[in-house]
Amino acid sequence: MTTHSSSQTCSAVVGLQWGDEGKGKAVDILAAQHDAVVRYNGGANAGHSVVVKGERFSLHLIPSGILYPGKLAVIGNGVVVDPWKLVEEVEGLKKRGVDTSGLVCSDRAHAVLPYHKTEDALREDLLKRNAAALAVDERGVSEIGTTRRGIGPAYADKAQRACAIRMGDLLRPEVLREKLDVAVAMKGPALTGLARTLGVNAEELNRDALIQQCTEVGQKLAPLIKETTHLLHAQLGAGKKILFEGANGSLLDVDHGTYPYVTGSTCISSGIGPGTGVPTTRVGRILGIMKAYSTRVGGGPFPTELKDAIGDGIRNRGREFGTTTGRPRRVGWLDLVAVKYAAMINGATGLCLTMLDVLAGVEEIKVCTAYRINGAETTQFPPDAYDLQRVTPVYTTLKGFAQDITKARRLADLPAEARRYIDFIEQSVGVKADMVGVGPDREQTLTS
Ligand code: IMP
Repeated sequence: MTTHSSSQTCSAVVGLQWGDEGKGKAVDILAAQHDAVVRYNGGANAGHSVVVKGERFSLHLIPSGILYPGKLAVIGNGVVVDPWKLVEEVEGLKKRGVDTSGLVCSDRAHAVLPYHKTEDALREDLLKRNAAALAVDERGVSEIGTTRRGIGPAYADKAQRACAIRMGDLLRPEVLREKLDVAVAMKGPALTGLARTLGVNAEELNRDALIQQCTEVGQKLAPLIKETTHLLHAQLGAGKKILFEGANGSLLDVDHGTYPYVTGSTCISSGIGPGTGVPTTRVGRILGIMKAYSTRVGGGPFPTELKDAIGDGIRNRGREFGTTTGRPRRVGWLDLVAVKYAAMINGATGLCLTMLDVLAGVEEIKVCTAYRINGAETTQFPPDAYDLQRVTPVYTTLKGFAQDITKARRLADLPAEARRYIDFIEQSVGVKADMVGVGPDREQTLTS
């Protein structure tokens, strides 16, 4: 790990693949050493699972740090918040006895409204229909495979501005009324038009009902909705330590991922600045989370994908089914071209390798170390899905390990082949592994 200056009291946890890398557990462990945990991107598309004393918690909007009593848990301005889901999540945690008094949501965060979800679903259906009609592959026109949580449309509205609603607006009835007027005028005809094209029914947008729903949910969330930029700087001024929790994954980043098969936000560490108001220069430690293999949910190219019994075995042992949508995840060999690229664009100072135990019993483990494209070999990650679709992975084969490693508590407890696998990853990526996960529980994490 690199050394940091005294003003760099913040850390970040980011995913180095296509999401679901096990960030929740890393955040949960690091939260113990920080005073505040802050989300800066994404929305209820994310699903973080944390197991505490055998009890599994699945969080979508609320930072995983909430499971530590007394910590400040902030939903930053860069997050798009489904207010009804937030209420549901808070109430669910309260029911299980979790103290949610440290939770704050930025008034600058944008709200995801029901029509964003309708738009997300209709657009996906249109892409799917077109792809089927044209018999196209994943070169840019087929279904993205979104979570249909309205994420893309909410970020699009944020950039488009005319009718975007921020969480702070939920507390101002007169602003809400004006904005919803514009939203209904703009979105209504677009949605019914799209529905007509698809031959399905779409309910007309009802301005009064929307105003009422938004006002009601705003009242419920009022105690949480606050200005957070000054709040976070006050924390920093008081010498407090902040942990930033990246959602989704670097290869789903709207600019740097496998476009257009990406999400709508900046998932990489540089999203912290715009997504919270804290300059990224305050972040000294950037922990890149990566699984010992690859997974992907939704559409888009996946060069190392396994569509065989080895892949099925990994999916079942790793419980690779979406936390948010329940969809089976696509599974493949570890792609070090992709991970090295992700570590580079994040400025990762350390790695956290997760799910190593899942590979137990795989006789020979393949690792992609280069791509072959147009007859030439490259270690550069291509700029978009069109190019990535056309690469052939170049593999190095490593000997696997047969033993169950879930009881290992030190790196020295691991079989030699597992340690060799970790060394190979560290050397290829050029970043040291600070943590290695051998099971879902907090205790099943080996540190170097
Ligand atoms: P959206 O974020 O719902 O628009 O979905 C865009 C793409 O990102 C789809 O392929 C989703 O499956 C994927 N995605 C979004 N969030 C996550 C996540 O937290 N883990 C894994 N995949 C995700």
